[in-house]
Amino acid sequence: MKKRVAVIGAGPSGLAQLRAFQSAAQNGAEIPEVVCFEKQDNWGGLWNYTWRTGLDEYGEPVHGSMYRYLWSNGPKEGLEFADYSFEEHFGKQIASYPPRAVLFDYIEGRVKKANVRPWIRFSTPARHVAYDDKTGMFDVTVHDLKNDEIYTETFDNVIVASGHFSTPNVPKFDGFDTFNGRVLHAHDFRDAREFADKDVLIIGTSYSAEDIGSQCWKYGCKSVTVSHRTAAMGFDWPENWKEVPLLQKVEGNTATFKDGSTCHADAIILCTGYKHHFPFLPDDLRLKTANRLAAANLYKGVAWVPNPKLFYLGMQDQWFTFNMFDAQAWYVRDIIMGRIDVPTSAADRLADVTAREAAEDAGQDSYDAIRYQGDYIKELIADTDYPSFDVDGANEVFFEWKKHKQKDIMGFRNHAYRSVITGTMAPVHHTPWKDALEDSLESYLRN
Ligand SMILES: Cc1cc2nc3c(=O)[nH]c(=O)nc-3n(C[C@H](O)[C@H](O)[C@H](O)COP(=O)(O)OP(=O)(O)OC[C@H]3O[C@@H](n4cnc5c(N)ncnc54)[C@H](O)[C@@H]3O)c2cc1C
Ligand SMILES: NC(=O)c1ccc[n+]([C@@H]2O[C@H](COP(=O)([O-])OP(=O)(O)OC[C@H]3O[C@@H](n4cnc5c(N)ncnc54)[C@H](OP(=O)(O)O)[C@@H]3O)[C@@H](O)[C@H]2O)c1
Repeated sequence: MKKRVAVIGAGPSGLAQLRAFQSAAQNGAEIPEVVCFEKQDNWGGLWNYTWRTGLDEYGEPVHGSMYRYLWSNGPKEGLEFADYSFEEHFGKQIASYPPRAVLFDYIEGRVKKANVRPWIRFSTPARHVAYDDKTGMFDVTVHDLKNDEIYTETFDNVIVASGHFSTPNVPKFDGFDTFNGRVLHAHDFRDAREFADKDVLIIGTSYSAEDIGSQCWKYGCKSVTVSHRTAAMGFDWPENWKEVPLLQKVEGNTATFKDGSTCHADAIILCTGYKHHFPFLPDDLRLKTANRLAAANLYKGVAWVPNPKLFYLGMQDQWFTFNMFDAQAWYVRDIIMGRIDVPTSAADRLADVTAREAAEDAGQDSYDAIRYQGDYIKELIADTDYPSFDVDGANEVFFEWKKHKQKDIMGFRNHAYRSVITGTMAPVHHTPWKDALEDSLESYLRN
């Protein structure tokens, strides 16, 4: 009997897993039967844009957190697939900060070429996973939303690739219930034009805060005020942008901050991050971790310590994305196919996690964090046939990116970098980011 493997989610992580198995088959190996369950009606995960917010047409929580006009917030040279370059996909080198539609096209190109779409059951969320100690198998219960049928199938392995930037973390502040405007979380933000001519108050200081604020600025809001809990972002912001301490209360349209200062707000956008949320997993299989580089309880960052027949992909906080998911997917494939051994003792598996946490904690700054995640990728790909690539070169691209942001936060996307996969230099985009209001694939590729 062939092994059966369930993959939950067809975003970049789940698709990396399908491509990893397909590539082994292409090289002549006998691979397990792979079934991917995807809740949305298309692949691409967060990169599959939806206008919907709240619940979808079936009453399911909408997965999408991406918005119109989103451009990559890091250089594409830091995420390029080692087995499928941008040049292979687009037939030429393209500029370094592609808008969402361009990256969606790239992600899709590799899996179309691999012909793995028939492995995916779309509009089919996983409802429950249970492990049977006696058989050593998993029962995976899913809901075929189109036919409204719930059914269960049995698998040797389960790989959870359902993402962790979709279930919002929503703190409450005094006065929200009587605020004369809209309070929303970044997860529900879709179009910056909604906030043209408005005073926008943002809570949080990470990538969503920075980018949603920048979007609102680019599309003509009146002002941006960013409120921080820990520390200000400290970039050299435009003149109608300020940073203030944590919000204390809202009265009418007046927001008051910890230092006693106030501002007028028409809308409040909570850019307060996301929760790892797996409603389909029971206690004994469910990952509980902070959003950090060394995720809790995952041997080599992927195998569930208490039961290493269960895997998680992409659960770490992310400097590297697509190429890290690839490194993980190839590694998980090789464990499942018996090419890589996992320690038989749970204590040994846990020791691996503890060492990873200590190594992350020893880092001093974000440069160390980038190196740490780069080293993790190197460690995984050294044990598989994933094409080796210049990870140190990719680290350098990230270092350059950080410097460009520090120099000009509204201009960093105008820079270009060299591909570590093909060695070619990206062209500078034809229009500065702040003036490029139209960001379709056709427009972006017009270089
Ligand atoms: C606003 C935003 C912008 C970002 N921008 C960038 C960027 O510019 N560059 C970058 O590299 N990264 C960016 N990221 C990071 C992003 O996490 C990764 O790029 C990538 O999408 C992660 O892939 P994933 O497959 O792990 O998760 P996701 O993309 O979240 O995909 C998970 C998939 O699992 C499916 N799923 C969920 N639950 C179930 C279920 N119960 N059953 C079946 N299927 C399920 C979902 O429908 C989805 O298709 C961004 C994230 C956010 C939130
Ligand atoms: N264009 C793009 O490519 C783009 C755009 C947006 C997001 N993203 C991606 O999306 C992912 C998630 O980023 P994110 O910014 O949403 O989440 P995040 O990185 O987890 O940051 C969460 C932020 O919320 C703050 N916060 C949490 N709880 C709070 C509270 N109770 N009160 C005040 N502040 C609170 C945190 O502050 P503390 O520092 O005080 O903890 C932190 O600043 C990242 O991978 C990012 O790269 C990409």
